[in-house]
Amino acid sequence: MASDLSTAAIRAEAPRAKAGGGAAAVPCHVALIMDGNGRWAKARGLPRVAGHHAGAKAVRRCIEAAIDSGIEWLTLYAFSSENWRRPAAEVTDLTTLLRQYLRSELKELGENGVRFRVIGERGRFSPELRAEFDRAERHTADNRRLNLTIALSYGGRTDILAAARDVARAAKAGEIDPETLDEDGFCRFLSTSAMPDPDLLIRTSGEQRLSNFLLWECAYAELVFLDVLWPDFCAQDLTVALAEFGRRERRYGANVD
Ligand code: IPE
Ligand code: IPE
Ligand code: MG
Repeated sequence: MASDLSTAAIRAEAPRAKAGGGAAAVPCHVALIMDGNGRWAKARGLPRVAGHHAGAKAVRRCIEAAIDSGIEWLTLYAFSSENWRRPAAEVTDLTTLLRQYLRSELKELGENGVRFRVIGERGRFSPELRAEFDRAERHTADNRRLNLTIALSYGGRTDILAAARDVARAAKAGEIDPETLDEDGFCRFLSTSAMPDPDLLIRTSGEQRLSNFLLWECAYAELVFLDVLWPDFCAQDLTVALAEFGRRERRYGANVD
């Protein structure tokens, strides 16, 4: 359901990334599709779970690099709505790893000033894991250095559909007027209502698709596809993506030269 934060207010407040002005531009919000764990493991003759373990270590490097780069919002796609279709053993490996990650990293996240949030269909995870999500969110709620959001059982279409349902209910209850509902009014109902739109979307592993990630929110994100497999991701890869972002000219449909 919608947060009580006004999306319009957050967007107005969030410092806008200034790309096009040189390689020094830092995006306010980076969204990242962490892909390639399976291929990384396969290339080494290891089981897929080994790739996911190595991927969890890359998450730590990525967070540190994001903090060092001055990024304020980092959203990581860790498990899609569609990933439930994977073999049950892999899903169990992933949820087990997630629980271990939250337990082992929470202290460090707190010390590094990271505010942790989860978006996605929490109800599909076990009560124990949901309790871990809540604990991590509560524990880091006052941190301001980096807003880290992990997308878990997240799907852009599902999120938009849930928002549309909530909008319809609110209209039926007379709480909103469909005739005056605008984009800012609508996105208050999305699970991402507390964050500014991504300025930069990075996908690793060489695949060039969104795979149902932040479909509404990435309307004007700059897309950067890296050939590195996620477990190999390091600070230098983020630097490369940021430099590419700095070379882009963002027009939002308005510029006529
Ligand atoms: C990304 O790596 C992690 C998840 C989607 C959970 P993959 O598991 O998709 O790795 P590849 O794409 O098969 O190499
Ligand atoms: C997207 O990767 C989801 C995550 C990285 C969490 P997938 O590997 O699941 O996407 P497809 O199947 O290649 O599109
Ligand atoms: Mg993949």
